[in-house]
Amino acid sequence: MKKVEAVIRSRDFDRVKGALKQLGIVPLTAYPVQGRGVQGGVPPYDLLPKMKLEVVVRDEDVEKVVESIVRNARSGTPGDGKVFIIPVEDAVRIRTGERGNEALY
Ligand SMILES: Nc1ncnc2c1ncn2[C@@H]1O[C@H](COP(=O)(O)OP(=O)(O)OP(=O)(O)O)[C@@H](O)[C@H]1O
Ligand SMILES: [Mg+2]
Repeated sequence: MKKVEAVIRSRDFDRVKGALKQLGIVPLTAYPVQGRGVQGGVPPYDLLPKMKLEVVVRDEDVEKVVESIVRNARSGTPGDGKVFIIPVEDAVRIRTGERGNEALY
């Protein structure tokens, strides 16, 4: 399992979310964040608002999920965002006790 963490433009969030649903990936966590990339903020703002998206996926789904996020969040201009891929040890669906891939979606 991997956690795909994406920081994207807020305006792209609904499209990215919809594209993940088309892949059959419905569950996710999302929240507004503030950040800066290599260019720093835009004066006078040090940090700019973005959306953070977190989705834990099966190993075999990682590439299509990352590709979908990138395709739907890219404008080609600085500030489009970034994706991080992080190993996940295990998961538990609290209701049923299922573990691992079975607990994800
Ligand atoms: N190395 C990083 N660590 C943590 N967060 C990051 C990192 N790089 C980018 N981010 C987050 O992603 C957001 C968007 O980053 P951004 O797209 O500007 O990255 P960049 O590397 O500057 O690329 P670009 O040159 O395309 O702008 C930032 O506001 C920040 O929240
Ligand atoms: Mg940048």
